[in-house]
Amino acid sequence: MCGIVAYIGPKDIPSVILVGLERLSYRGYDSSGISVMSNNDITTWKKSGKLFNLSNVFKTLNVNAQLGIGHTRWATHGVPNEINAHPHLCPNKKVSIVHNGIIENYASLKKDLQNKGHIFRSETDSEVIAHLIDHYFVDSLEDAVRRACKDLEGSYGLVAISEQDPNKIVAIRNGSPLIVGLGKQDNYLASDINAIINHTKDIMFLEDDECVILTENTVTVTDLSGNTLNKETQHIAWSPEDAEKGGYEHFMLKEIYEQPTVIRSILSKHINDNKINFKHLNLDKRSLSKIGRFIIQACGTSWHAGLIAKYWIEKFARIPTEVDISSEFRYRHLLSSGNEAVIGISQSGETADTLACIREAKSKFFKVFSFVNVKNSSIDRESDGVIYTHSGPEIGVASTKNYLAQLLNIYLFSLYFGFSKKTVSDSELAGRLDELSQLPDLIEKCLQLNDQLKVIAKKYASSRDFIFIGRGVNYPTALEGALKLKEISYIHSTGYPAGELKHGPIALIDANMPIVCLCPQSDTYDKMISNIQEVKARDGKLIIIASEGDDSFNDMSEDIIYIPKCSQDLTPMLSVIPLQLLSYHISIELGCNVDQPRNLAKSVTVE
Ligand code: M6R
Repeated sequence: MCGIVAYIGPKDIPSVILVGLERLSYRGYDSSGISVMSNNDITTWKKSGKLFNLSNVFKTLNVNAQLGIGHTRWATHGVPNEINAHPHLCPNKKVSIVHNGIIENYASLKKDLQNKGHIFRSETDSEVIAHLIDHYFVDSLEDAVRRACKDLEGSYGLVAISEQDPNKIVAIRNGSPLIVGLGKQDNYLASDINAIINHTKDIMFLEDDECVILTENTVTVTDLSGNTLNKETQHIAWSPEDAEKGGYEHFMLKEIYEQPTVIRSILSKHINDNKINFKHLNLDKRSLSKIGRFIIQACGTSWHAGLIAKYWIEKFARIPTEVDISSEFRYRHLLSSGNEAVIGISQSGETADTLACIREAKSKFFKVFSFVNVKNSSIDRESDGVIYTHSGPEIGVASTKNYLAQLLNIYLFSLYFGFSKKTVSDSELAGRLDELSQLPDLIEKCLQLNDQLKVIAKKYASSRDFIFIGRGVNYPTALEGALKLKEISYIHSTGYPAGELKHGPIALIDANMPIVCLCPQSDTYDKMISNIQEVKARDGKLIIIASEGDDSFNDMSEDIIYIPKCSQDLTPMLSVIPLQLLSYHISIELGCNVDQPRNLAKSVTVE
């Protein structure tokens, strides 16, 4: 959470930082601030609320500065007001810092510093960093930063500037992402590539315990003792346009509409000559045959993808699979018989709960494979093998295109395993790949449902609650539909396996309750129909997702959404699309902030 941008060079400092912060505001958006160094003097502006409150300040200012640091916040310690916003300064204003992460021992450090006469202004954990750097400053900022970090416990990506060493920016990373962008006569730092991709595509990814010192013309990376390290620079393929709205009103809508393209590109990357391949899985046939159980762990939407993975892996590869929510996984008593592999699923590759599980699993000598979208993210780097989900940058806080990309990659992974274990025959593989080649067109057809969903959204936007039901492979879709709706519209919504309704939740149903029923053709279709009848008998308002040509629901509801016919295994990749559109349009009806819903952040880097 929280976004950091820093720049040293001849361009207009506030503009570079503000544009970068705007692009990072999916990481946190409750307050923001900037410090610049002009004539060896630090000036700081901070505002609570959305970034435009800060941008407005600079409309009438002409700031002539040599370098600057900026921050957009997702509050952990202290309410989101101006005082708690970053940058934080030490009392005599000689040091200014921005921080992403949590300092766990801040209370004891603060007490020690207060005893030494330091006066604190904010309620944050981060302010202690500025005071510590000031405390350790002798003659070089990097030495002071490295010394200060030795006292810190917790996670941080932090950037510091000092009036006493005014021509450099120093940053250090431990657990929270930080990247360096190398320009021609300037240099950049940011929490993620999107923030600076319009300036440079030459990127250095900092590892934990690495410190970087930027001047206008140099980038030096050291370890915590100050020894210089040789770091590789990587050229990034994403284009600046990938991080723009491209004519759509919201990133979420753009990302929903990008899904056919994303699916086409994944198919072309992983299927060659009717064979599935994964370049970065690092798993030979012998090790593959030894895996006797998968343990999947993920959060939020990625967890829903994990629930569907269980269904596909057990069906195609016949390997028992458990699925955990990452924040629970670490605290259970995991039993091992030595043949397990852990799978992490994460769009950002930085989700702290998921990362912590990967570290835990590796410490217990489990093999770890991950499905990750962001290359070079922590989860990418720390896993034994990865499958990149290849959805391109996803900016909307509500995950859409990456969920679909996760599903397709997981589906291919299940078939790949099944084929290697011979639980999937040549002809079955060929048939399934043939069906997959139609998938982008089927998704295009689902997108044509947009107008119908707009109308349904209008009709139900004033509902206080929603229930989503599904069975089998579409039960996780019900959970995903409910999560999408609640996170961007703030309507209370919940997903259930349809057969579970009668064990309690059915008591909630009355004439005011919309129930979204996922009922495409499947093995559990008849059972689903009975569950829908039970809801109908209690006056629930039915919104039904069914397969094209199915007229069984005509006298049950006016709101029937037809998705194209396909095998039941592909239905989750189609049925989720109307749910994405439904939640999008309800959010618009209610005037909510679709891309930046309250209290949330795209990348959750705290546990
Ligand atoms: O980056 P990750 O996939 O690890 O993120 C996991 C969740 O935080 C994420 O899916 C979250 O639930 C989204 N807001 C859902 O739309």
